[in-house]
Amino acid sequence: MKKVTINTLMKLKEEGRKFASSTAYDASFAQLFEQQEMPVLLVGDSLGMVLQGKADTLPVTVEDIAYHTRCVRAGSPNSLLMSDMPFMSYATPEQACLEAGKLMQAGANMVKLEGGSWLAPTVRMLTERAVPVCAHLGLTPQSVNIFGGFKVQGRDQEQADQMVKDALELQAAGAQIILLECVPSALAERITQALNVPVIGIGAGNVTDGQILVMHDMFGIAANYMPKFSKNFLAETGDMRSAVTKYITDVESGAFPGPDHTIA
Ligand code: KIV
Repeated sequence: MKKVTINTLMKLKEEGRKFASSTAYDASFAQLFEQQEMPVLLVGDSLGMVLQGKADTLPVTVEDIAYHTRCVRAGSPNSLLMSDMPFMSYATPEQACLEAGKLMQAGANMVKLEGGSWLAPTVRMLTERAVPVCAHLGLTPQSVNIFGGFKVQGRDQEQADQMVKDALELQAAGAQIILLECVPSALAERITQALNVPVIGIGAGNVTDGQILVMHDMFGIAANYMPKFSKNFLAETGDMRSAVTKYITDVESGAFPGPDHTIA
């Protein structure tokens, strides 16, 4: 696979071509994903749930993410690699810079932070210091205790309008990717059309520029819970490489996520 950069994704967006991405946590799967030409990988703090068996992502540390970032980078030298900043690692812009530096030095090309326009000064400070940022909106799992559970976000008009405003402010602050999780497809479409930067969705319909899945969900092997918007591609194909290829081609053609895996 040729080296993937933010410019690659910007070009795909301009050409109206969709792209797939996946979480990854170790070198072997990262290599498999790269061999199947998955352009974007994420070391997600979902590792707290799928690797560590915790109930949510809050216990994950910067050291956990840095360790798995090193592992994934070893297996996939050419993907655009995003690494999650864990809960409470970016409470202030200064702290965010300090912790993000560790993830970039571990091999990340971009860090991902959860939150709306309150994060704009942090995004500005990071990007000015050469740390590219993906801003995660919608169901932001680190806020599970504020939301009272893993719930769809942006259903009412006021919330939806606020999310569009947040996305625009984060883009203006320098965010180079916006990730939307668990939002109605119509809202995801509105945000994708309003932004110049690529929008990656999970549980946001097939209207975004890119899709992401937690790899354990793609293979139907998550220990705890399988979200309704995810799909077990391994059950459909019977082997891991074909499952990854099927996921990528279904995303590129717009076949995934179909109506059964979309929040109306
Ligand atoms: O941590 C993670 O895996 C994520 C995905 C759900 C996008 O943030």
